[in-house]
Amino acid sequence: MPPVVLQLRAVSRVFVGASGSIAAVDGIDAEFRAGTFTAILGRSGSGKSTLLHLCASLDRPTSGAVLVDGRDLASMDDDALARLRRTTVGLVFQFFNLMPQLSIDENALLPIVLERSPTAADLARLDALIARLGLTHRRTHRPELLSGGERQRAALARALMPSPRLLLADEPTGALDSSNATAIAGLLRDLAHDDGVCALAVTHDERVAALADSVIRLDDGRVVGVDAGRGVRSS
Ligand SMILES: Nc1ncnc2c1ncn2[C@@H]1O[C@H](COP(=O)(O)OP(=O)(O)OP(=O)(O)O)[C@@H](O)[C@H]1O
Ligand SMILES: [Mg+2]
Repeated sequence: MPPVVLQLRAVSRVFVGASGSIAAVDGIDAEFRAGTFTAILGRSGSGKSTLLHLCASLDRPTSGAVLVDGRDLASMDDDALARLRRTTVGLVFQFFNLMPQLSIDENALLPIVLERSPTAADLARLDALIARLGLTHRRTHRPELLSGGERQRAALARALMPSPRLLLADEPTGALDSSNATAIAGLLRDLAHDDGVCALAVTHDERVAALADSVIRLDDGRVVGVDAGRGVRSS
């Protein structure tokens, strides 16, 4: 079996506010392997983004543990976590978060430039990714000139540039029409199956779930259903 890339052990995140406390994520146990595409489905407010931020080390659990490649994120200092986010984890946010003043090429190269000077191999990877994502004709454009689907693909190109083992996408089809949504979901599945990426998308979009290898349903921060093994290849 392929290795476990992401493991959640009794993970909870409680927010304390003036009107009381909310367990946005409430005791989740799960593991995600290389080469699989999982959709985490839930209605608005069910805890999807909170869970994804915990997986990406952008937030810390109130209790429980998040492990990436067997390492407990709680045992890592801020520098180590920042490095993990730059090298191992690819993140696609709910609202793209592309830099408006940079071209699509420059946006995609950003995670590399933050680490080091791009090499010829980096630029070749950029070319290949831009072509694979159908952005060749848009690569010198700034995000404002792109359609929603193109922006989403540009955000994916940026997330994929460092060759992450773990790809986390928050509502990757939220702003897209049906054909673009299906294309993005298919791409996430291909990245898992062809490149061995452990891909995880949180969404309320059943079209994404239809293309995932397994589906986890969330409500009020808890897992209320698991549909594993759909679409998983026999190899
Ligand atoms: N920083 C915060 N402080 C207090 N409460 C929060 C915070 N972030 C999220 N919550 C609460 O936690 C719950 C889950 O929020 P979350 O953003 O994870 O939902 P979601 O499933 O991603 O929703 P959507 O589909 O609308 O993006 C909500 O009730 C929300 O109000
Ligand atoms: Mg959300």
